[in-house]
This record gives sequence, C-alpha cells and structure tokens, in this order.
Amino acid sequence: MTGTKIDGLEVAQAVKERVKKAVEELKAQGINPCLATVLVGDNQASVTYVKNKQKACAEVGIATKDHHMPASISQKELNDLVDSLNNDRSVHGILVQLPLPDQINEFETISRISPIKDVDGLTPYNAGLLAMGKAALKACTPSGIMELFDYYKIELAGKNVVMVNRSNLIGKPLYHLLLEKNATVTTCHSKTKNLAEFTKAADIVITAVGDRTKFTLKQDMIKNGAVVIDVAITRHDGKLAGDCDYEDIIKKASFATPVPGGVGPMTVAMLLKNTVTAASLSKGLGK
Ligand code: GUN
Repeated sequence: MTGTKIDGLEVAQAVKERVKKAVEELKAQGINPCLATVLVGDNQASVTYVKNKQKACAEVGIATKDHHMPASISQKELNDLVDSLNNDRSVHGILVQLPLPDQINEFETISRISPIKDVDGLTPYNAGLLAMGKAALKACTPSGIMELFDYYKIELAGKNVVMVNRSNLIGKPLYHLLLEKNATVTTCHSKTKNLAEFTKAADIVITAVGDRTKFTLKQDMIKNGAVVIDVAITRHDGKLAGDCDYEDIIKKASFATPVPGGVGPMTVAMLLKNTVTAASLSKGLGK
C-alpha cells in the first residue's frame, strides 16, 4: 500500500487565495493590511524564513515593514521597537522571528506584543485563549496542521494522536486544537520512555524534533495506515529533511507530509490569514 502525499503547497495556495480576496475587501474599506517583521541578527534559517514570509505577503497584497536589527540589540531597544510597532496604527501584525539572541528574554519580548497584533498567536493572552477554545489569532504551524487535516478530510474525533514535541510554538497549542476536535492526544518528548510504543499505537503521529542524530521516525515505529505529519526541518545527507524518510514512511502510512512541501508552506499561509484577521480586528478600534 502507498499512502497519499499531503501536499502543503496546494493547501497553502488555497488559503492564500482566500486571504487575497479578504485583503481586497479590506482595501476597499480603506484598510491596508500591514505586517511588521522583526529579525534580530543573521541566523541563516531565520533570514530565509522572514524573507519567505515577506514574499508571501507581497503575493497576497499585504504590505510589510522590515526591521532587521543587529544581534547585539539590548532588551530595552527591542522593547522600545515592539512598543513603537504596537502604537503604529498602520501596522496590524507584528512578527518577532524566533529564536532571539541569548541576551534577550524571549518571554518578555513576546509578551510585550499587543495581543490584537500578535499574528504568531504566541503571547500569553492568545495562548490562554487558545487553551480555552476562544482564540482569534492561533499559532501558525499548529493551525496550519489543522488546515491540512481539514483539507484532506482526515477525521480527528476519537483518534489516538501522538505528538513528539512539547514546545510553546508547536506541541502545546496543537494539543489544544486537537482536543477541541475530540482527538485523544498524547504529548511525548525527549524524556519519554519507550517512545516507539506510543507512536506504534497512534492513528496519527506528529513529529517535530529536528535532529536526525537523536530521532528518526521509521516504518517500524508506526502502524499500518497511520497518518504522519512531519513538522521538522533539518539537514540530512546534505539535503533538507524532516524527522522521517518520506519515501519509506509513505509505503506504510495512509497519509504523510513530505519535507519540504508539507507543513512549512502552511506556517506562512496561516501567518497571512492571521494578518488579515488582525487587520479586521483593527476596525473595531476606530481611526
Ligand atoms: N521560528 C520558527 N518558527 C517560528 C514561527 O512560527 N514564528 C516565529 N515568530 N518564529 C519562529
């Protein structure tokens, strides 16, 4: 049996088309959706991610303001930048690319973003709303994964979902989104004992480890017909890869995401969607 490839590029394109229409409608009402990106330092992966996000904004008609700050920036300087973007009425969304350098407190920085401009859905306020099933701005990668399930009509109610990730960016928000859809969710991590026993029992396996020397999801770790969502982006044998060997896993899985071209494009598409939502929220604030 060979499973179906979950084509993140195709699903992301469908989301982008919806966003493009919403942008046109907002512009007709005099609102010009705008995303401010904040990149600190020159981490190569982060530089590429932010460029991709800006390019995707341009494709759907969202304006961007680029803030590329030196790696040596102080906490006070970064706080001042976030404050100025919070107060800038022409900016609807603020994206502070993670990770940040060691001298910067990530929690302090993210917490400072105005919740209605928090297009990453990572502020404590929006993370709390998400946990309660009430968030308007949801973390991008987790909500992108939910969009993939929806597009491919993959049922979640009553399914046994095993995640290998517990981060604020992926595992924790995804846990709540899956629970809301009535899945039974287990969160595994680096200290989980007998990890393969968990993944083998799962209807759906979601992995986001990103280090092949520590973890590789192999065929013998999933059950026949499992759905496999690979969130990791790493380098393996000189090529971009995720936590699993797609060509191998798809022989046993019913659905699986490739890397690249799976979850990655969805993160960007959901950022665009959140920016449009944030721009709509700004309507309630008056001029
Ligand atoms: N670094 C890796 N993924 C993300 C993301 O989705 N948002 C932000 N802000 N930083 C990241």
